[in-house]
Amino acid sequence: MLLDAYRITSEPYYQPQGAEISTFTAAYHERLPVMLKGPTGCGKTRFVEHMAWRLGKPLITVAAHEDMTAADLAGRYLLEPVGTIWHDGPLTQAVRHGAICYLDEIVEARQDTTVVIHPLTDARRILPLEKHNEIVPAHADFQLTISYNPGYQSAVKDLKESTKQRFVAIDFGYPQPATESAIIIRESGADSDLAAVLVAIAQRSRNLQGHGLDEGASTRMLIHTGRMVRAGLPLETAVQSAIVLPITDNPDIRAALSDAIAACLP
Ligand SMILES: Nc1ncnc2c1ncn2[C@@H]1O[C@H](COP(=O)(O)OP(=O)(O)OP(=O)(O)O)[C@@H](O)[C@H]1O
Ligand SMILES: [Mg+2]
Repeated sequence: MLLDAYRITSEPYYQPQGAEISTFTAAYHERLPVMLKGPTGCGKTRFVEHMAWRLGKPLITVAAHEDMTAADLAGRYLLEPVGTIWHDGPLTQAVRHGAICYLDEIVEARQDTTVVIHPLTDARRILPLEKHNEIVPAHADFQLTISYNPGYQSAVKDLKESTKQRFVAIDFGYPQPATESAIIIRESGADSDLAAVLVAIAQRSRNLQGHGLDEGASTRMLIHTGRMVRAGLPLETAVQSAIVLPITDNPDIRAALSDAIAACLP
């Protein structure tokens, strides 16, 4: 099959935080588009991989960026020895052959790019390819999922109301301590004592959110710290290199964060 390369063959580990699995399953059943909202490193990408595996559908992921054009999603003509040949973009491949298409950080894309998804995300379920003079009806298995970090957006970069209101949303926050601890143990090989310390550090850092930090330490950062410890680094050094230094360039905030963290270290 055409999309075989996009099939996920072994189960991506995913620890649920709430009702997100049943919510996504219901949305997929109805082929409603889904918006995953939440801070960086909280499991959005892992979740969509898990759901694609669970539903047995191929997953095509596209990372949006500010230079992305509609052609990057839909496709373009390329000059080849035999002439100009049309090449479907990743979105068109998903629409035509039936995949879950995951558009990561959709707000990064220009608004003229985001409107490409409008006819796909309402009752029409079509993708007009103007340049190719074709209207592609969506395959029965096609579904669109986007991610969105509400923390980063300025008003200019927010999604248009007409885009937002097409989606069912699932809110991802940081996991509850017991869940986060289980994730750290599983993903980094940390023992439960180390995981408990890392979760406590994360909570301190998340309290600094809005007081110098845009976002607190993500689950991803805690996993990195656990891995650095497993690779032989002392905990304090690991915390500095995997949490404090990447998260801020401001020396005062670094000092405040280091103080907050010191209280958690054994
Ligand atoms: N609920 C979870 N179950 C299993 N692993 C998780 C979970 N949440 C986070 N992780 C772990 O944290 C890492 C980061 O998560 P992920 O890449 O899915 O974040 P994200 O929300 O997509 O971040 P970004 O917005 O930066 O893309 C994953 O690789 C995984 O190891
Ligand atoms: Mg991601």
